[in-house]
Amino acid sequence: MDLKEHILEHTLPKHVAIIMDGNGRWAKQKGMLRAFGHENGTKSVREVVETSAKLGIANVTLYAFSTENWNRPKIEVKTLMKLLISSLKKEIKTLQDNDIKLAAIGNLSMLPEKVHHELNEVINATADNSRMTLTLALSYGSREELTHAIKEISTKVKNNIISVENIDDSIINKHLYTQNLPDVDLLIRTSGEQRISNFLLWQIAYAELYFTNVLWPDFRKEDLYKAIIEYQKRERRFGKTSEQLS
Ligand code: IPE
Ligand code: IPE
Ligand code: MG
Repeated sequence: MDLKEHILEHTLPKHVAIIMDGNGRWAKQKGMLRAFGHENGTKSVREVVETSAKLGIANVTLYAFSTENWNRPKIEVKTLMKLLISSLKKEIKTLQDNDIKLAAIGNLSMLPEKVHHELNEVINATADNSRMTLTLALSYGSREELTHAIKEISTKVKNNIISVENIDDSIINKHLYTQNLPDVDLLIRTSGEQRISNFLLWQIAYAELYFTNVLWPDFRKEDLYKAIIEYQKRERRFGKTSEQLS
């Protein structure tokens, strides 16, 4: 039986976030440069995005470039930015065909002007699509996001727009880059690393974590199916007892 048939429609995760890792190692294994791994990683992105939309997952967030990734060699950063521009140009059709809206989170002002421009083009062009929201985390770091939110909230407190007593989960959520997204239900990381690397720290508070040894450029729809099937086997208790849930 096809793996897909094991997926239950009514308990699909509403928000899947993916740490796409292992491009460099994938290329190295093939005796190629890291850039070759990044290029091939874009094929996995396309497949995962299309498959998620077809399955009916409402939100997919992809960790594409972290605040820490700015510390990589200049040439690699440049390659990644170029690849981002070409992928945005190329994949606009995939997004339109599948009724997918593009969004971006992160310290976007750090991105080169060309990336900014292309990103805004695609965000605007897909703004009315509603089947799925694809969010790219670019120049994203959870600590930067939280710092940004704290500064905004503090300013509002100082200007008497918010009172300290009223600060709660919901106010904090509204000041995060992910303000329009629900909490993450399923977090996937490829390449065997079992760490979060500064991704969505607040938003994964109750996410189910799924780690796979598959390197990102090898990640295919069957790997996504496996992750979702595993997710659907977990009992999400949110602090309650098993008996309370049934
Ligand atoms: C993920 O692959 C892509 C980015 C972080 C931009 P890596 O480039 O981290 O690949 P590895 O971890 O070195 O194999
Ligand atoms: C995390 O991968 C960032 C992205 C996938 C964009 P890294 O490869 O940069 O993570 P670390 O530094 O190994 O934890
Ligand atoms: Mg890595």
